[in-house]
Amino acid sequence: MRRPLIVGNWKMNKTIQEAIQTINDLKTLVTDIANINNIDIVICPAYTALYAVKHAIAHSRLMLGAQNIFWQENGAFTGEISTSMIKDLGCSYVIVGHSERRQYFKETDSDINKKILVSLNKNITPILCIGESLQNRVDKLTFNIIKTQLEHALANVKSNQITSVIIAYEPIWAIGTGQTATPFQAQEVHLFIRKFCEDKYGYNIADKMRIIYGGSVNSENISDLMKETDIDGGLIGGASLQAKSFTQLIKNLK
Ligand code: 13P
Repeated sequence: MRRPLIVGNWKMNKTIQEAIQTINDLKTLVTDIANINNIDIVICPAYTALYAVKHAIAHSRLMLGAQNIFWQENGAFTGEISTSMIKDLGCSYVIVGHSERRQYFKETDSDINKKILVSLNKNITPILCIGESLQNRVDKLTFNIIKTQLEHALANVKSNQITSVIIAYEPIWAIGTGQTATPFQAQEVHLFIRKFCEDKYGYNIADKMRIIYGGSVNSENISDLMKETDIDGGLIGGASLQAKSFTQLIKNLK
């Protein structure tokens, strides 16, 4: 049985004060959730709020993640942040290869692979995002795209490291659009991802890996998605911004 994982990706939202307020509200609300001890919950605020959120989540069940890192340890890389830096800020997770970074900041599969390797080496759990565009899906290229993204991103990731990688399937057409993938559409890609990992690392390892879904997940559609065998949690954008909606979503996990 894989432990459910819910990750809130706040993207470029919230001042420090707003972040602290949301965490304080969340801490109060999540205490009412019956199965809270059986779920991992990670919050990924903007870099500017990480330090404040690290303190705000102390003594709670919430864990901290960053939304990106650079693969170099230090040096002349203006505007970038290393894994050691986010570790220093209390992060145990990092989102890598989000489609918004691929699209707006031209991140390549090779950049993403370097980020995965460096975070594993620093004992930070990478959340690797993969997913196809609407045009890819229309052209029936979904599985080809997913396969290529996995091959590149997981190059040189060893079998004793892979269960520390979380894979997030986020179809680009479902992100922020309100058009979530159906449980069937999500499950068939999750199964494909697990089979890819099985071919590369063997059944026992692939069976332990957590594969989460992202793209317009909310309190209403989460439970149907979670009923699928290979969906182990969610990467949540919009519905993670308000403590109330995020708590309701976690409550509705089945
Ligand atoms: P939405 O939940 O707002 O669609 O965003 C999904 C996402 O990109 C999470 O990383």
